[in-house]
Amino acid sequence: MPGQLSQRDHTADAAAVDGWHELAVANPTFLLERLGSECTDVQGLRELTVNGLDAIAALSARAGGRVVWDRDWLRFDASGGRVRKLSVTDTGTGMTPEQLRKYINQLASSGREQSAAANFGVGAKIAAGSRNPHGLEYRSWHGGHGSLVCFKRHPDGRWGLEPQRWPDGRREFWRPLGEQEKPWLLRGYDHGTQVVLLGRHERHDTTQAADSVTDGRRHWITRDLNGRFLRLPEEVEVLVREQHRRGQPAQLQRIYGERHHLRQRAIAAGVVQLSDAIAHWRVLDEDHRTRRREAAFWASTGHAAAVYGDELYDILPQTRGGYGRLQDFGIRFGYEQVVLHLEPHVQADRLQCNTARMLLLLDHEPLPWARWGEEFVDRYGVSVGLDVAASIAGFSEDKVRELRRAGRFPGHRAGTRVMVFVPDLVEWMRNGGEAQYDTAPTSKAPSHGIERRRADRPAWMDRVSPRSSA
Ligand SMILES: Nc1ncnc2c1ncn2[C@@H]1O[C@H](COP(=O)(O)OP(=O)(O)O)[C@@H](O)[C@H]1O
Ligand SMILES: [Mg+2]
Repeated sequence: MPGQLSQRDHTADAAAVDGWHELAVANPTFLLERLGSECTDVQGLRELTVNGLDAIAALSARAGGRVVWDRDWLRFDASGGRVRKLSVTDTGTGMTPEQLRKYINQLASSGREQSAAANFGVGAKIAAGSRNPHGLEYRSWHGGHGSLVCFKRHPDGRWGLEPQRWPDGRREFWRPLGEQEKPWLLRGYDHGTQVVLLGRHERHDTTQAADSVTDGRRHWITRDLNGRFLRLPEEVEVLVREQHRRGQPAQLQRIYGERHHLRQRAIAAGVVQLSDAIAHWRVLDEDHRTRRREAAFWASTGHAAAVYGDELYDILPQTRGGYGRLQDFGIRFGYEQVVLHLEPHVQADRLQCNTARMLLLLDHEPLPWARWGEEFVDRYGVSVGLDVAASIAGFSEDKVRELRRAGRFPGHRAGTRVMVFVPDLVEWMRNGGEAQYDTAPTSKAPSHGIERRRADRPAWMDRVSPRSSA
């Protein structure tokens, strides 16, 4: 069984008792930097957050706890405010010195289930490690005992654990930590871990976003975590403190994940079953100004992304054709307020993310966005504005105004002028103009969305997007 194989302890270059010489890694430094180059600069936020969540989940089923992204206050205070390093602390199981050596200093080594669907044992080391050659400092408490190791790049290029000097002068791969070296979050706990990101050099301020982060730099941690996690375990508080004002520490803000925000801002929602995916769509409210401001904290404008587990993959930013993808799904009107989350619905082994956890692959290929778009249009039609919808319905302007005020268009709130899917509209008119489904984002799928529509082009489509211009 691959599962059992990967759980056993690997020992490099030694022949096993059966004489089999197992594959070993000759140049782990090369491998780490190679895999690291496939990650974005912010991927470490995801990896270290998940490690914290896993460490809390390992305490007991549905254990509560906290994962906190904050400045390393001990360093900050000890240096008179000069040294600013980002850290993440969790109230999870913590690690012993031996576990730190084994899990932090070995690639593909994981204390949790190692499999395609779970941990690869390379996450934090490649994503966060590669961006912090000056060191990822682990300060971990287990059973009341604290230990420190520092995973970093030697000046000669080798990655590994830096020797630590003990009070008695000897040097080891770790050193014990005293109670006064505990971060604030762990006071009163006898377990938990803090990881400090030391960056590229002594003076590197790792609380600041990397240069590659172009949008929402002020709240880059919040923005990245909300855009990455669709939901977070309710029992764990994930908190972020960023953007300190002169001399005044900022407040800790809780991260809830994208779905929490979508639920608050959606005015219509539905589910469409495609051949190998489930498409969850939401129309967000028309308060564009507020949503544009909130784009600094969560993915608050129109986008299409894939869902895998509790996470979002493959979000295409507007600047790289994100709206174009929505238009491929027939969202011609109102795309800046439509969110589509595609959840592949296939046998588990057909869906994989790459080792760097940047890409989701279906049968080892990029996700079939264009085909999904076609299927979506086939089942759901294209979106149009209420004015176009009204003209299709043959309503007078007065009638449209009245319906708008009353919020009587399918899935609409009073006063909004957002898009309607044409087949919805047609069906709604056929039923005498009564609302088809409620506006709660959790509303069940409209039944007609599940059945496959005629494969040929439906007649209504020509009235909205004539064949010649399609
Ligand atoms: N914050 C933490 N608390 C407890 N254990 C941890 C923590 N971070 C990492 N570990 C241990 O180290 C292992 C390796 O972590 P990592 O390099 O991120 O790889 P992966 O998470 O893919 O297994 C984890 O599986 C876990 O056993
Ligand atoms: Mg991990």
